Amino acid sequence: MTSESRFIRACRGQAHDTVPVWFMRQAGRYQPSYRALRSRYSMLELARAPELIRDVTIRPVEELGVDAAILFSDIMIPLASLGIDFDIQENVGPVVSNPIRTRADIDRLRPFRAEDVAYVFEGLRLTAAALGATPVIGFSGAPFTLASYVVEGGPSRTYRRTKQMMWTEPDTFSALMRSFSAMVVAYLTEQVASGAAALQIFDSWIGALSMEDYSRSVLPHMRFIFESLAPLNVPLIYFGVGTQHLLPEMARTGATVLGIDWRTRLTDVRAMLGSDVTLQGNLDPERVVAGFEAARAGAQEVVASMRHDPRFIFNLGHGVPKESEPAVLKQLVDWVHEHGRMA
Ligand code: CP3
Repeated sequence: MTSESRFIRACRGQAHDTVPVWFMRQAGRYQPSYRALRSRYSMLELARAPELIRDVTIRPVEELGVDAAILFSDIMIPLASLGIDFDIQENVGPVVSNPIRTRADIDRLRPFRAEDVAYVFEGLRLTAAALGATPVIGFSGAPFTLASYVVEGGPSRTYRRTKQMMWTEPDTFSALMRSFSAMVVAYLTEQVASGAAALQIFDSWIGALSMEDYSRSVLPHMRFIFESLAPLNVPLIYFGVGTQHLLPEMARTGATVLGIDWRTRLTDVRAMLGSDVTLQGNLDPERVVAGFEAARAGAQEVVASMRHDPRFIFNLGHGVPKESEPAVLKQLVDWVHEHGRMA
């Protein structure tokens, strides 16, 4: 193998031996080793303890043989620095006790300070040291997806208050997006300084917006973020669910890799966007729950159509479901490596 990993090489469109693979949420409740730790610590206690961050982050590399690790954390973590109080509730998700709904709420937010979340960067340094040549992916939530929790006060299906702010108080919404964008840039810059070899920005819920609303109210902020991160010279991955209608706009952000969900055929995305962007995805996560044969059949369709494309990274279309069998994921990694060979 050449000096850089096949994951980084695929991000950059450079030749490599076989299709790289990692999974969103590859560290999580489907793992017996993770559940054992969670019987002693809450999710937030884990995410604030550098040695535990390292241990949880590297386990999928050891247990599954994936080509990259992803920082164990949550998209909400850096918001504490701005003065946003949240908790992570079991089987609910993030709940915010002081939702941000007015211009005055936004004006009260503090600027992000890296020292407030020093445990994240220390966790990344320990992780990078433990992994050696295997890259660790740093990440952040994107402004809209963060706003969808912070404005609603918790998980939502409609994003009603967030959209309402966007349409009826566009200056307020824009101020919130600017505040979060500045945080994302500072937070991710410090992650690279701490050893992250690539960055993924999770805009998980952005598919809820029309193309017009995305272009008008979100795209300028995403362009600012990607332009600000470009000088770091690491691959920049942009992911969302249900984004088929947004992909041409998302490709204009400056992201070098787009994460695609399972609804859209990757060859169609390639035809639509051309060959300058790496595509990452996109097995339906429920296929993993359905067992190895269902997972293999889906992987076959994805890999057969993309394995000669130097800009392809295998992943699921969203996170690993907690009902997944670890052995199925391990077999899937081996199958992709064996059947994804370029030559
Ligand atoms: O799998 C686990 O249970 C791990 C622990 C956990 C995480 N976040 C880790 C995480 C838990 C319980 C949460 C709370 C949380 N945060 C939820 C509910 C999860 C659940 O099923 O109960 C949600 C929806 C959030 C908000 C959130 N966090 C989003 C929208 C994202 C982006 C990814 C996505 O799923 O769309 C995150 C990132 C996140 N949370 C990661 C991890 C380990 C990201 C890194 C990765 O992909 O591994």
